Amino acid sequence: MRHWGTITAAFVAAAVVFAFGGGAMAKEFRLGLITPPPHIWTKAAEAFGADLAAETEGAQTVAVFPSRQLGNEAEMMQLLQSGALDMAFLTVAEVSNRVPNFGAFYAPYLVETIDQAGAVLKSDVALSLLEPLPREIGVVGLGYGMAGLRQIVSRDTIETVDDLVGKKLRITPFEPIRDFYNLVGAAPTPMPLPAVYDALANGQVDAIDMDLELIWKLKYYEHADTVLISDHMMFPMVGLVSARVWGGLSEEERAVIQRLMKKHLDGVIDSYVALEADFLAELEKAEVPIKTVDRDFFADVVTQWEETWGEKAPVLDDLRTVAAGL
Ligand code: BEZ
Repeated sequence: MRHWGTITAAFVAAAVVFAFGGGAMAKEFRLGLITPPPHIWTKAAEAFGADLAAETEGAQTVAVFPSRQLGNEAEMMQLLQSGALDMAFLTVAEVSNRVPNFGAFYAPYLVETIDQAGAVLKSDVALSLLEPLPREIGVVGLGYGMAGLRQIVSRDTIETVDDLVGKKLRITPFEPIRDFYNLVGAAPTPMPLPAVYDALANGQVDAIDMDLELIWKLKYYEHADTVLISDHMMFPMVGLVSARVWGGLSEEERAVIQRLMKKHLDGVIDSYVALEADFLAELEKAEVPIKTVDRDFFADVVTQWEETWGEKAPVLDDLRTVAAGL
């Protein structure tokens, strides 16, 4: 018969192995994104990390790397694919460069309001688009966020769409938006976010495609003769986990990460739905030269865009059905 002291020592040793050496090793995930620390996306990433640490009692934590510290979005996507990066919040633009079906989200005037944008992004059709991502590009998509609807800030006065013709107009680098502005007759100029302020201020570009939050908070409006409130496109973000990293997690670990990341991505959508009108009100208070337009402003550009992208992104029909039912 074994002595109690021996049994207790064996039990303690087993507990130590379980806690520090066995399957329950503490894990710090790295999550990258391009937005700066005060941005809604970055705050959501940090809140997700805090929730994960609390729920796993510190067994899983998240180190957030904002402001492109781990590279631009194309580089972060490669890191996710190789398993060198665990998680990222990336613009859907980056995913659409690899999986054209995602271009459907950028159909001009797919939605008319920020509430509708949020509802489309939370819909089953949108979520079903994430299913093939592990197979197609080696990442697992856990849900969408967004950054409001797109507007145009112009150094010159804009009265009609013809005033945009030939203008160097900053875009986020992805094809659906490039095609939109090519159809407008502008000269779309791909440029990452951090370069935009100086480029607009010093006239390197004549105009920029941007969301209301950043037009207000980063003071792009200071260089504008017209802020065109066009709401012409939504701008979704997607929460991703490396498929390699995901494959190494247990079912329970995946379930917790999935639930908490989705909660905070939904929170990002809800924030923009709640705040978009406030950003506009701030611009109005600051007496920024605002011109409000709708799809008629862009004449037949919208239907021309749909002709090309309807084929490249067949899910567009289903997204339209979702939007029409809202
Ligand atoms: C942009 O490229 O305009 C952008 C990227 C991320 C968040 C917001 C805006």
